[in-house]
Amino acid sequence: MSATDAASMAEELYFNSHPPPKGLEHHTALARDFIAEHSAKGTRVVLVSSGGTTVPLEKNTVRFIDNFSAGTRGATSAEYFLEAGYAVIFLHRQFSLLPYSRHYSHSTDCFLDFLSLSPSASDPNEVVVAPQYREKMATVLRKYNAAKSKNLLLMLPFVTITDYLFELRAIAQLMHPLGPRGLLYLAAAVSDFFLPASRMSEHKIQSTNAVDSVPQTGKPKNDSVTGLYNPESQESTSDTEDEETFDNFDSSPRVPRAKRLIVDLDPVPKFLHNLVSDWSPGCYIVSFKLETDPAILVHKAKYSLDRYQHNLVIGNLLATRKWEVVFVTPGHKDVWIRVPAARRKKAGVADTEDDDEPLDPATLPEGEPEVEIESLIIPAVEELHSKHIKEFGGAKA
Ligand code: PMT
Repeated sequence: MSATDAASMAEELYFNSHPPPKGLEHHTALARDFIAEHSAKGTRVVLVSSGGTTVPLEKNTVRFIDNFSAGTRGATSAEYFLEAGYAVIFLHRQFSLLPYSRHYSHSTDCFLDFLSLSPSASDPNEVVVAPQYREKMATVLRKYNAAKSKNLLLMLPFVTITDYLFELRAIAQLMHPLGPRGLLYLAAAVSDFFLPASRMSEHKIQSTNAVDSVPQTGKPKNDSVTGLYNPESQESTSDTEDEETFDNFDSSPRVPRAKRLIVDLDPVPKFLHNLVSDWSPGCYIVSFKLETDPAILVHKAKYSLDRYQHNLVIGNLLATRKWEVVFVTPGHKDVWIRVPAARRKKAGVADTEDDDEPLDPATLPEGEPEVEIESLIIPAVEELHSKHIKEFGGAKA
């Protein structure tokens, strides 16, 4: 079987065995209109994916597995794409950071700290921005209003890994007619493992045996099939303990193995092959590769590029992702993009960096760099995208 046939089969299997998100039709209609409007005006359109994806453990979800991503990369990149003249579809994890409002939504930058009640105003309810924050806030607000008034930013939320994959496929397919002018920039931190719907418990997984004798709707016949392996269901319960002992987070050997929850996850099918060859062929496709081990980052980025045959992999390391990334493109030398040394070095730390090697996190100062690395990434992506448009024919490059 060819790689394409295998990818189509995996796609059919996945999308036929998982329910689409409730908002899919509405989101697709919005994206269709958005793309049509901007494509008619000759404006380039980029799909930016952003934030993490949740992996629910129950259909009526009480518990889920998540990852670290706050959506900083995606939300910041979206702003710089808008500055570069793109219309942006921002496919983001619900409640992750958003373009523009991100400057004031984080817990360390709570917007209320930027405001005060005007002491002299005749209206006691008049709220004003503290003078020291006014300039920056006005700039952010101006850009936000401009994007809104020109309808240049379409924000579409998702929550779970399945929601994300349905939304990604639908929008990527709508991007297809844009050909080389369409850009997909996949910065979301997509979960690699998930619990398939067929093995998911309908209701909250119980941590005690208090309801074992109560008939329940949607209770899996065999817990091992749910992937939530509870050996109690296969073991004799003759030495029944007081159920209350199971309510404690007590990991001592005294807690019977029977009451531990073992989660057995499947790999999430990688749909990059489908995206490149079927959903959005001809568009410029940028994926990200996140690693924590500097020794394998470039190797993994190249592997991904070879495997999926798309246009650009941007590699980044968890510890240094706000300070540097590496661009890996077919047939070219890797290019590291870094926040300039003058704007990031700790006083007294020698400049020992090698252009072709990852930075040592120990040489980086605490906190955020002065320059947002996305302000360097997006112009570089735009340049590569322009070359792609020229090469593959797009009169309005
Ligand atoms: O959000 P921040 O806190 O700012 O962090 C930014 C980031 C580190 C999350 C971002 O820069 C990043 O690296 N995102 C991609 C991380 C990732 O999921 O890498 P991956 O190797 O698992 O996936 C590779 C690519 O395939 C990604 O572009 C991903 O969006 C895509 N993918 C992955 C799995 C899958 N099933 N489908 C996909 O489309």
